[in-house]
Amino acid sequence: MISQELNDTLTRTGPGTDAGAVMRHYWQPAALSDELKGPRPVVPVKLLGEDLVLFRDTEGKLGLIGRGCPHRGADLCFGRLEDNGLRCPFHGWHFDRTGQCVEQPGEPEGSKMHEQIKNTAYPVVEKNGIIFAYMGPGEPPEFPNFDCFRAPETHVFAFKGLWQCNWLQAMEVGIDPAHASFLHRFLEDEDPADSYGKQFRDKAADTDIPMTKLLRDYTRPDISVEETDYGMRIIALRHLDGGKTHVRITNQIFPEAISIPMSREMIITQWHVPIDDERCYWYSMFTSFDKPVDKDLMRAQRLKEHRLPDYAPIKNKSNDYGFDPDEQRTETYTGMGLDINVHDQWAVESPGPIFDRTKEHLGKTDVAIIKYRRMMRAAIASLKEGNTDALPMLNGVDPSTVYGPISNDTIGDRHAWHDAFEASDRARRAGCKGWDATT
Ligand code: FES
Ligand SMILES: [Fe+2]
Repeated sequence: MISQELNDTLTRTGPGTDAGAVMRHYWQPAALSDELKGPRPVVPVKLLGEDLVLFRDTEGKLGLIGRGCPHRGADLCFGRLEDNGLRCPFHGWHFDRTGQCVEQPGEPEGSKMHEQIKNTAYPVVEKNGIIFAYMGPGEPPEFPNFDCFRAPETHVFAFKGLWQCNWLQAMEVGIDPAHASFLHRFLEDEDPADSYGKQFRDKAADTDIPMTKLLRDYTRPDISVEETDYGMRIIALRHLDGGKTHVRITNQIFPEAISIPMSREMIITQWHVPIDDERCYWYSMFTSFDKPVDKDLMRAQRLKEHRLPDYAPIKNKSNDYGFDPDEQRTETYTGMGLDINVHDQWAVESPGPIFDRTKEHLGKTDVAIIKYRRMMRAAIASLKEGNTDALPMLNGVDPSTVYGPISNDTIGDRHAWHDAFEASDRARRAGCKGWDATT
């Protein structure tokens, strides 16, 4: 457990907060490219507690500017998208994508007042289906060479979903390899042939053992963590009968992303992005090392479970997450259906909007959570001293040399599991079709 003060420090991310300052040093997912595909590419964005509006101007370039008009605060999400910018419907002030006011049609002829009016504006970059924003000081950092950014657009699918809880709760489920044996347990195994686009439904490594069975049968993983240049690697070992060990490699990418295997074909890189302190979006990039991603199928699977335009899950607290006690007895551990996202959503939302961590009791399997909080505290302390020495990827490491990260499931000899997961990663990269995944 931690003190109330530390809980506040770690969870709050609005302007002027400690964890918020750390997050503002990194690119943050702000929207899906899909959200700007309609006839009027203007969407509200709330990010790290700030109200913004994202739009694509006539030149096709993106702008992310303050949502309240600098004149008298009217909502620019209702702005007129014209003249290569956004015009406030109240008095016609016009803003370009840099936030500069370029026209005030109601002010006296010849007035230069607009030259002094600059709205908040943040740099944005589109990468494989996600629009990222940089809200921090100075020049934005380079993007690391992660697979989700290196792979061509054909091999990456992006989606998002709304969770009604603080971002840290959401992130902490992603760095907790123990929960999969319980929360995501299926009492019966599905045919892995029906597994496309779903988590934990493939066969484990190169065996015929369904992942569902392996997770069910081996519930006490031996978990360790290694600090890396991007954050941390989390190693979960499940020692099987017959001298073999199942190795699952997942990662924490600082400050608020994870990278995990989904199947033998795909990995998921997922950010848990604060909207404000009591809501967050997960943004996922699904990256294929094999065929191009079947985006229509993956999108249809996920749209069935979410409501637009805010990507709120259809199963939620108001309908008990679809809980069915009969299903819980016979089919799934949760009784909340086969979509593991719903299980995770219940796990992160049910402790309340901001979990009171003065009441928690962490065990040995929570080692990555403990380590992560130390890393965030070190990053906060570093910024307070005026440097970025304890901020992964901003501490002098060249981001273009940061690859991977390795995210996979492997079975190897009990005493050679390290070689086994590295060899399996090399083989996956060497066999990758459609793009050069070798490092
Ligand atoms: S409030 Fe926007 S132009 Fe007046
Ligand atoms: Fe999970």
